[in-house]
Amino acid sequence: MNESDLERIEVRLLLEAVYQRYGYDFRQYALSTMKRRIVKRMGEEGLPTITALQDHLLRDPAVMERLLLDFSITTSTMFRDPGFFRCLREKVIPLLRTYPILRIWHAGCSCGEEVYSLAILLKEEGLYKRTRIYATDFNEASLEKAKQGIFPLSRMKTYTQNYIEAGGLGTFSDYYTTKYEGARFQPSLAKNIVFAQHNLATDGSFNEFNVILCRNVMIYFNRELQNRVHELLYGSLAYLGILGLGEKENLLFSPREKDYEPLDPKERLFRKVR
Ligand SMILES: C[S@@+](CC[C@H](N)C(=O)[O-])C[C@H]1O[C@@H](n2cnc3c(N)ncnc32)[C@H](O)[C@@H]1O
Repeated sequence: MNESDLERIEVRLLLEAVYQRYGYDFRQYALSTMKRRIVKRMGEEGLPTITALQDHLLRDPAVMERLLLDFSITTSTMFRDPGFFRCLREKVIPLLRTYPILRIWHAGCSCGEEVYSLAILLKEEGLYKRTRIYATDFNEASLEKAKQGIFPLSRMKTYTQNYIEAGGLGTFSDYYTTKYEGARFQPSLAKNIVFAQHNLATDGSFNEFNVILCRNVMIYFNRELQNRVHELLYGSLAYLGILGLGEKENLLFSPREKDYEPLDPKERLFRKVR
């Protein structure tokens, strides 16, 4: 057995320890990604081995808090992949107009960048009033930020460009007011959004939705956990409901592949047909 095999065992044992001591379940995340983060934390804590890090975090919740921050990749952008939002506007919105009430689940919403983008799009298309958006993430700190709806002013140039490319109908700056270094989005955009904690690795379904967006979350999961999440999303989607995934994610090879029809495969939009 070489050094790298031993490290894999250490990583698995550490993830098991994290689960048993703190209840956070990272056991089915992609091993290489987790290893990178663990080794980084090990270095920053000045510890010589992964096992030493495990020992410290079992006894010191502050070490766990720091590792948790390393584990969370919260990168997001408003109107991320503008083509996806354009496609939502052009191909999905017409399908949604027929519903009197719309329920949308945004799973893994991070600090809310995509959720506010969706709220803007729905407002412009006249559908916001009849929509309830459930925005969930397992990271409480991100959810707290999302509830505030304040994003760095320095990002507004990129977000404005994305909004235009996504087919925005208005003037992006009308949706926020600036204060110090922040852009505060209109509180009316959050009126129909429920932010709540939900862990895709361990929690179950909580409603039936017409649209589910789960973008750039499953890329960090191993195949087994991806399948679990696909099962959960499938079970939470109404018949003819829409599923939106991230640019690097797909339904291909998932056990539910045959239960969806591609609506726009390039933009990773699918429709549940079975
Ligand atoms: C890279 S961000 C993607 C955010 C947004 N969906 C986007 O595409 O811009 C990934 C998000 O997934 C969340 N996440 C990771 N594992 C999760 C889990 N097991 N349950 C719920 N959310 C999770 C992270 O906290 C993070 O906010």
